[in-house]
Amino acid sequence: MNENSPEIFLEDGKILSQQCWPGSQYVLRIEAPSCARHARPGSFIHLQCDPEIPMRRPLSIMRSSPDEGWVEVLYKVMGPGLAALARTPAGSTRSVLGPIGNGFTPDPGRPTVLLVGGGVGIPPVVFLAESMAREPGWQPLALLGSELPFPFDLAPHARPIPGLDQGPAAGMMTLEQLGVPSRLASRAGLAGSHAGFVTELAEKWLRNRPTREDCAIYACGPEPMLEATAALAARHDVPAQLCLEEYMACAVGGCAGCAVAVVENGRTEMRRVCVDGPVFPARAIYPGAGLGVPA
Ligand SMILES: Cc1cc2nc3c(=O)[nH]c(=O)nc-3n(C[C@H](O)[C@H](O)[C@H](O)COP(=O)(O)OP(=O)(O)OC[C@H]3O[C@@H](n4cnc5c(N)ncnc54)[C@H](O)[C@@H]3O)c2cc1C
Ligand code: FES
Repeated sequence: MNENSPEIFLEDGKILSQQCWPGSQYVLRIEAPSCARHARPGSFIHLQCDPEIPMRRPLSIMRSSPDEGWVEVLYKVMGPGLAALARTPAGSTRSVLGPIGNGFTPDPGRPTVLLVGGGVGIPPVVFLAESMAREPGWQPLALLGSELPFPFDLAPHARPIPGLDQGPAAGMMTLEQLGVPSRLASRAGLAGSHAGFVTELAEKWLRNRPTREDCAIYACGPEPMLEATAALAARHDVPAQLCLEEYMACAVGGCAGCAVAVVENGRTEMRRVCVDGPVFPARAIYPGAGLGVPA
């Protein structure tokens, strides 16, 4: 295991609630007091889905309450593990391993923060946005993309954003209530959303900034979205951190099943996403992104 890895806890947690959203998407809240105390935006849990299914599933933490001792995750059913979890009623107990991984490292020198989340990559971005809303000094903007109906309540957005507001649009209610402007994007014709990729909104916003020297980007989502984010970060010379959701087995550094190639100081090394990541600098994952493309 990476000697710099944060401490990981194994806890039997009672499922406190399980909310179902369209598109087989669920928001699950589970007791895990030690995990909740140490969770950071970008870290994840490795969750037992069913006592009969030996493999746990990794899920990013979307919220944690150290005071009440729970963590919350958002998941979309892909196969048998999460399908079994979706059938599990509140009150049941499941084993929680976490928090795992090195999360985002926000740069206080760049307080204007662009958060980009896509699909099941939305949870770590929401965690970071909500954390920043509670700390002084940060100015986060969250851009969220999905091809399924968004698995949260929507609200008309409360704050105009120059360059982004053309036509009616919605944001994520919890973020708007916390004072974090948010915008939605979808190619599935979802009401209130920009019709296109979430990275198109990011590109527009960056183009319209008077300066980008105070900006940083933090993103999580499907690979093409991460690659497009790395490219636009490089074109606009803005540092970006990407949270990877690589397929993994042990999730604690033992099997190397999650290894990815990372370029550091001009050298390519293999790194385990579970304990060396899951957050990496965009330039380390996509060293050639954005090269040769004019801003
Ligand atoms: C660090 C991390 C954080 C994650 N966070 C979330 C989250 O917050 N919400 C969420 O819904 N999902 C998340 N995932 C993805 C989720 O853990 C997997 O999709 C999980 O395997 C789904 O379980 P399942 O039982 O539904 O499907 P499975 O039966 O496990 O998988 C169904 C199919 O999808 C393929 N597959 C599974 N995972 C991946 C993957 N990561 N990449 C490519 N193909 C894959 C499998 O090979 C299989 O063909 C995360 C993954 C990682 C590594
Ligand atoms: S999943 Fe086993 S080392 Fe990362």
